[in-house]
Amino acid sequence: MTAGIDLGHPQAQAIQSDEDVVRVRQLVRTVAVAAKLSLVDQTKLVTAASELARNTLVYGGGGSVEVSVVDNGRRRGVRILFADSGPGIVDLDLALTDGYTTGGGLGLGLSGARRLVDEFDIQTAAGAGTRVTVTKWSR
Ligand SMILES: Nc1ncnc2c1ncn2[C@@H]1O[C@H](COP(=O)(O)OP(=O)(O)OP(=O)(O)O)[C@@H](O)[C@H]1O
Ligand SMILES: [Mg+2]
Repeated sequence: MTAGIDLGHPQAQAIQSDEDVVRVRQLVRTVAVAAKLSLVDQTKLVTAASELARNTLVYGGGGSVEVSVVDNGRRRGVRILFADSGPGIVDLDLALTDGYTTGGGLGLGLSGARRLVDEFDIQTAAGAGTRVTVTKWSR
């Protein structure tokens, strides 16, 4: 137990506002510390989560996140699932290209987040929402 957080269960958080994005950053930091990620890895994961939470809010029209401690028998890690019921991503390869944006951003959120984590998975389809799962393992 760390500061009232039960790491045996996924920690859920809504993403409906800028304040929620800040809460997601704090939650991911807390769980990453508890999972004993290095300071550098904590920061990489928080940065990735911040980008993905912002996408959930801006493009997904809001959604939710679940943060879990995972264990593969060799290492401990942190897994984060972002889910929204927005329009989905029609061309995923394009969306993952550095510099591609439909919203006047830098187009570096998804591609940057992918580089900052160990595992990265997106389930999405036009009209079917978007689920992004990322995992960072302790070293
Ligand atoms: N959850 C989502 N639902 C629908 N479309 C999304 C979602 N996340 C990303 N996209 C699409 O993928 C594009 C690329 O996302 P990415 O985060 O890389 O760039 P950005 O958000 O436009 O800019 P930046 O993150 O650099 O400020 C977005 O412009 C948007 O079209
Ligand atoms: Mg983005």
